[in-house]
Amino acid sequence: MTEQPTDHLREFVVSLPKAELHLHIEGTLEPELMLALAERNRIDPPFPTVALAKAAYDFGNLDDFLRLYYAATDVLRTAADFEDLTWAYLRRAHADGVVHVEPFFDPQSHLCRGVEMSAIVDGIVTGLRRGEAELGISWRLIMCFLRHLSEAEAFETLTAAEPYLDVIHGVGLDSSEANNPPSKFAAVFAAARGLGLRAVAHAGEEGPAEYIWEALDLLLVERIDHGIRAIDDRALMKQLAERRIPLNLCPLSNQRLQVVPDLTAYPARQFIEAGVPITISSDDPAYFGGYIADNYLAAAAANGLSRDELAAIAADSLTASWR
Ligand code: ADE
Ligand code: ZN
Repeated sequence: MTEQPTDHLREFVVSLPKAELHLHIEGTLEPELMLALAERNRIDPPFPTVALAKAAYDFGNLDDFLRLYYAATDVLRTAADFEDLTWAYLRRAHADGVVHVEPFFDPQSHLCRGVEMSAIVDGIVTGLRRGEAELGISWRLIMCFLRHLSEAEAFETLTAAEPYLDVIHGVGLDSSEANNPPSKFAAVFAAARGLGLRAVAHAGEEGPAEYIWEALDLLLVERIDHGIRAIDDRALMKQLAERRIPLNLCPLSNQRLQVVPDLTAYPARQFIEAGVPITISSDDPAYFGGYIADNYLAAAAANGLSRDELAAIAADSLTASWR
């Protein structure tokens, strides 16, 4: 059988050393592992079969997805569960040529179910250390605050994380964006920075360009997760380019959550032409139909990105990382 050009391009993409900077560890929970953990923990799984789980992964918007994503996390109960989740992700990332990861985790979605911070952090970090030892993947860990909850609850989460600050390197902001602007979390981000934590935030996924400005000016973030809506604001594009603030793009996520009408409208090329640094990641790969190499290929197909451009994106991901 003759090899197709996309196979060659995949090999090329996989060969590029790259960092995955926008990845929710809970979003790597494949249905097979979800069912296995439900059995191990003797609980009813959110879906009875892999096929029914996959059939439910049909989302009209971010909130549709988040409902299902939080429901699925119910199977994560023990440190061993978080370790297995992390290790399973790292093996897939390694196969795609990832050499450095900075996963997010959402402690509030577990603490509210009675899971201890120690089980969450110890499990993830044990998985990350195994990945470093066996696969050579370096890492930093980012704790996200859920923006649909209050800032007071984010402060409680920060306090609960204080014993673990040797293995948590930054804070992020995720969950339902509409009507939950970055400004709501300015004080808790200032407190986190005061503890030596670095900062990133989701902004401009479903929210407006104004939320990207707020993330930059009020949360003092170093990178923006998604940031797609920056294309609506020329002054913002200029600022991102001048300050070399990267946008961590996730094309398959944006397609599946209908953030863009379809991938032909994907703005990666506009960012490149405006000099805005971009990286490519997979966001929640178990739900959106692909890991990091698939996301590179989706952006390449949508925007006609050349091999040199793909290599530059991979190089920028390492530059933008906290290695
Ligand atoms: N949590 C997990 N995935 C997310 C996304 N794409 N946007 C906001 N919060 C998230
Ligand atoms: Zn995300």
